Formats: sequence, C-alpha cells, structure tokens
Amino acid sequence: MEAKEYDVIVIGAGPGGYTAAIRTAQKGKKTALIEEKQLGGVCLNTGCIPTKALVAGADHFRKIKHSRRYGITAHLASFDFAEMTGRKDQIVSDMRSSLTGLIAKNQIEVVRGRAQFVAPKELKVLGEDAGFLRAEKIIVATGSIPTDIPAFPCDHKHILNSDSALQLTELPSSMIIIGGGYIGCEFASMYREVGVEVTIIEAMDRLLPGLPMNVAESLQSYFAREKMELLCSTRVEKISPEGNDVVVYLRGGRSLQADRALIAVGRSVLSKGLGLEKVGVTTGKKGEILVDEQMRTNVPGIYAIGDVTGKAMLAHVASHQAIVAAEHICGSFQKMHYDVIPAVVYTHPEIGVVGLSKEEAEQKGYDVITGKYPYAALGKAAAISETYGFAEIVAEKKTGAILGGQSIGYDSANLIAEIALAMQQELTLESLVETIHAHPSFAEVWMEAAALAQGFPLNFPPPLRRL
Ligand code: NAI
Repeated sequence: MEAKEYDVIVIGAGPGGYTAAIRTAQKGKKTALIEEKQLGGVCLNTGCIPTKALVAGADHFRKIKHSRRYGITAHLASFDFAEMTGRKDQIVSDMRSSLTGLIAKNQIEVVRGRAQFVAPKELKVLGEDAGFLRAEKIIVATGSIPTDIPAFPCDHKHILNSDSALQLTELPSSMIIIGGGYIGCEFASMYREVGVEVTIIEAMDRLLPGLPMNVAESLQSYFAREKMELLCSTRVEKISPEGNDVVVYLRGGRSLQADRALIAVGRSVLSKGLGLEKVGVTTGKKGEILVDEQMRTNVPGIYAIGDVTGKAMLAHVASHQAIVAAEHICGSFQKMHYDVIPAVVYTHPEIGVVGLSKEEAEQKGYDVITGKYPYAALGKAAAISETYGFAEIVAEKKTGAILGGQSIGYDSANLIAEIALAMQQELTLESLVETIHAHPSFAEVWMEAAALAQGFPLNFPPPLRRL
C-alpha cells in the first residue's frame, strides 16, 4: 500500500500534539494528527478539565456550608454526585466539540488509529484509518498513563486510579488515597469537601514531595484541620478488595479499611509499542524519549514533546514544547527552557509555585531575601472571608532579582502568573513594588511581599531594626 504524504505528522492529540499540529498547519505545512482515543488527550478527557469541573462542584458545596458567615442561612437541600459528574462530562464533551472544530478549521487531517514507526519518516496506522503515512517531520506526543504497581491491582471498582475515579457516579463514604502528590491531594481535597472520610498514605515524610515545603506544610495543616488522616512515611504492603470494602495493609502490621482506594503514585510515559527501537530513537530508563532544547530526538526529523519526554508532566509544558518543536520545523529558532514553569495544585486551599523556594535558592548558592505576606493582612481577603494562606517571594539580596514565588490560598492558580511573568522578564522586587496594583485585590499580595522582603512593608509590621 502506498503511503499518504504529509509535511508533518503528529502522533497524539493531547495539549502537546494538537498545539504542535495547529502551529505547523498555520504556517502552511500539510499536517496530519493521529489519535487512537479521543481528541484532547489526558488533559481534556481524564485530567485537568474533568477534575477541575469536580473541584468547582466541591467549591460550591463548601460555600453553601459556610454561607452563615456572610449572613445567609442556606441549607443543602440535596446533593447528587451523579449530577455533579454529569456536569463534568458535559463540559468535557462541549470542549471536545470545540477542539474538533478548531482542528478542522486549521485544515489538519485527523487520522484515527494507533501509529507505529516502520521507518524514520514512515508510520503504519492500525485501527479505523489503517494505512501508511509519510512525512519529513514526525512529532511524537503520546503522553503518559497512571503508573500501575502490581501490588496495588486496580480493579476499577474498589481500587481505582485517577481515570476510573472520574467514572464514579456514587460517592463513597470513605476513601484511602495512596500517594500524596498532585493527584492524591486534589482528589483528597475534593472528596473531603463533599463529606467523604479521607485518608492519605504517602511514602515520603510529607505531602507534595516535589513542591516547596512552605506550601506543603500549610496544606498539611489545613487538611488536618479538615479532619483528614495523613499517614506520611508510610508504606503500603498490599491492597485487596474484601466484600464491599477495600483493606489496605501497611508495613508494620496495621491495616485500614474503606469503601474505596485510589492509587495516585505517579504517571508513566507512554512510549512502548511505537517502534522507536526500530528507527533508533533513544529513550531513558523510564522509557522517556530523550530530546534536545528544540525537542529533537537523536533521529533527524523525529521530535518528541509532552509527558513522553519525561520532563515536567504538565499540560502547559507540553503545549510550550509543542510551539518550540513546530517553530523549529517551520524554520524559526526557539529554545525550550524549564526555569520558569508555574505549577498549580487545585486543592482547597489552592497552591501556585514558580521558580525557586528559599531552600532551593540557598542550595544553589544565592544570598537570599524573602517576604512572606499573609492573606489575612489583605483587605480583599478580609472582605470576602478568604484569609487562609500566604504568598512568599524569594529574591537575590544583592540585586533584588526575583528567583521564585509560592502561594497557598484563594486564587493562587491565577496569582502565580504575575511572578512567572516577572521572572521571565527578569524583573526585581523593585519592579513589583513600583507597579500600581489595584486595591483591594489579591494581586496586592506580591507587592506587599516584595515590600516586606525589602524591609519596608506598609500594611504589615516592619522587621525589628537595631537602633
Ligand atoms: P506525583 O509524582 O505528583 O505524586 C505521587 C506520590 O505518590 C509521590 O508523592 C510519591 O512519593 C507517592 N508514592 C509513590 N509510591 C508510593 C507508595 N507505594 N506508597 C505511598 N506513596 C507513594 O504523581 P501524581 O499525583 O500521580 O501525578 C502525576 C503527574 O500528573 C504529576 O507529575 C503531575 O505533574 C501531573 N498532574 C498535574 C496536575 C496539575 O498540574 N494540577 C494535577 C494532576 C496531575
């Protein structure tokens, strides 16, 4: 069978793949996008969007519970988890339709099926649109899947992973979550808000081991206050469904019982079965495809982007890598950088971090100053009764250059964008202090934190000075 010819073929239609396809198509390249499942990848179908839709439901639940503090007496007349998940499904389906339209408008040809390399510039597609495709440039954007540990066999009924947890339409009364990373904490927070008894078991000595300690500690205190059981430095030996429950056996002899267990111990890259070895693409120990700053693999013409590269597994990193790869293919030169990547955890309270924490900056040899400003001292936070949390800014003492920021509390996901932009533009504490921030607003927190780091806070007691 003769192969169909394209300029560019992208394998995988997640936020990495479809972004790359859109950019190459916009720049005049004849582009095909191969996908075996649904357009939108993990982010749209089983990750970022559906989980945030559930978090939004849980937020409303909490607001009703706490409405008394605003002088409103409201009673939760009924709560139907199936309706909450139905809303999530509708949002995902609407967004998928929009994405399908966007891809079509960009004149990208969608090929349904599973792709495998047969030569460096040729792919075989198995499935609905079976056949052979050829292109000078091929971008691999196949993503990742939840890590499967044999000792924790997901039956997707009692023992769930993040994919099957999203399919639940009935709320369990109790849930044991194995893994206190991004996924574990986000699900824990959402379930607890709607009344589920939650236990988190984490192998390391703290939640969110990859994120700065200041925000992780604050989240732990909040979770403890909300009566979640946190078992850190704890190893699970075995999990088994017993009757209608799940029993989790811990090392040391203790066991715990709950309605359901959720396994959230990380994600694994999806590079097997692509025929990479056949064409000589180099992969790392975990199967990640090794790439350079332009997202090129070692094989000329083959690029890789997104989770499959084993870098920060975040949708916004994938779509940025996509632009770098697509622009390179189209003849312009950009480099991927990983120094300024905002990361957000959609718990309540929300977490946003970018750049270095104080400890990380010190380890790198910086002489550091920091300013940590509590939300409780912000007028807007007081006005809307969202006073839990803080923002901490980290800067170099000599130059005031901003090295990082962390915040936990209301709207941290949006607030962290200011520090990401400041770092990207190599701004200083002075720049933040000199920028007029609207009052009252949460955005003022960075201006106040920067002023505090400089030792001249206006709305907060100054540091003690020696006379
Ligand atoms: P993760 O790497 O964030 O956390 C996994 C946690 O499980 C770690 O804290 C680890 O110490 C713990 N763990 C591993 N084995 C264990 C065991 N046997 N017993 C107890 N604990 C164990 O991975 P997670 O949460 O599964 O998320 C996967 C990826 O998805 C992350 O890399 C993240 O970047 C991405 N993600 C991003 C989100 C966001 O941007 N808001 C939301 C959800 C996921």
